[in-house]
Amino acid sequence: APSESIADALLAWYDRHHRELPWRVTPDRQQAGERADPYRVWLSEIMLQQTTVQAVGPFYAKFLALWPTVADLAAADEEDVLKAWAGLGYYSRARNLKRAAEAVVHDHGGAFPPDAAGLRSLPGIGDYTAGAVAAIAFNRAEPVVDGNVERVFTRLFAIETPLPAAKPEIRRLVATEVPDDRPGDFAQATMDLGATICTPRRPSCILCPLRDRCMALRDGDPERFPLKAAK
Ligand code: ADE
Repeated sequence: APSESIADALLAWYDRHHRELPWRVTPDRQQAGERADPYRVWLSEIMLQQTTVQAVGPFYAKFLALWPTVADLAAADEEDVLKAWAGLGYYSRARNLKRAAEAVVHDHGGAFPPDAAGLRSLPGIGDYTAGAVAAIAFNRAEPVVDGNVERVFTRLFAIETPLPAAKPEIRRLVATEVPDDRPGDFAQATMDLGATICTPRRPSCILCPLRDRCMALRDGDPERFPLKAAK
C-alpha cells in the first residue's frame, strides 16, 4: 500500500481542485490567522442538508445580507426567516435555525460552543452538523460523515456491511484518518471528492487521488458500494 496517508493524498488533491464555495474562507484570510466564521459555516451546513450546493448559493447570500451575524438572526422575526427560507423546503430547518440562534445568544453569550458536544445541544444540530462546524470553524479533529463520505469510505475499504448498519464502522474509519492539523479541509475534501470524482454512478477513478489504495477499485466494481439494506 502507498506510504502516504489518506489525508495527505486527499489534501494535496483538495489544494489543487477544491470547489470555490461561498462559505469557504480564502487562503489569504486563513494565512492572516482568521478562521471560518462559525455562524457562516453553521448556516451553510444547515442549508446544505437536503439541498444541493448550487441551489443553496443564492439563499446563503440572501440570509447573510439580511442577518449578517447570529445576533441579527436571533433578533429577527420568525415570519421573516420563514419567508426568506421559502424555496429551500423542510421548514423545520428554518424554525430550528432561529431557535439555535436564540440559544447561542441567550445561553452561550453570543458565541457558538467550540466543540461537537456543545454544538450538538443546539436545536437542529445533529452529529453531522456538529462535526462539520467543530472541524471547519474550530479546527477540531471530528469525523464528518454525510452521504458522500459514506460512499468514499465504503469504497476505499470495500465495506460489505450494508447501510445503515455500516454507519458506526464508517465513522470509526473516518475518525482514524482525520488529520489533527487540517480537520475542516479533510472533511470538505472528502465531500468534494464524493461529489465530483467518487460519484454514485460511473465514478472517475482515473482522476482519483486515492485510486492506489481503493479496495473497491482493486476488486473491479466500485459502483457496487455502498451496499444498501433491502427495504
Ligand atoms: N456538503 C455539505 N457541506 C459541504 C461542504 N462544506 N463542502 C462540500 N460539500 C458539502
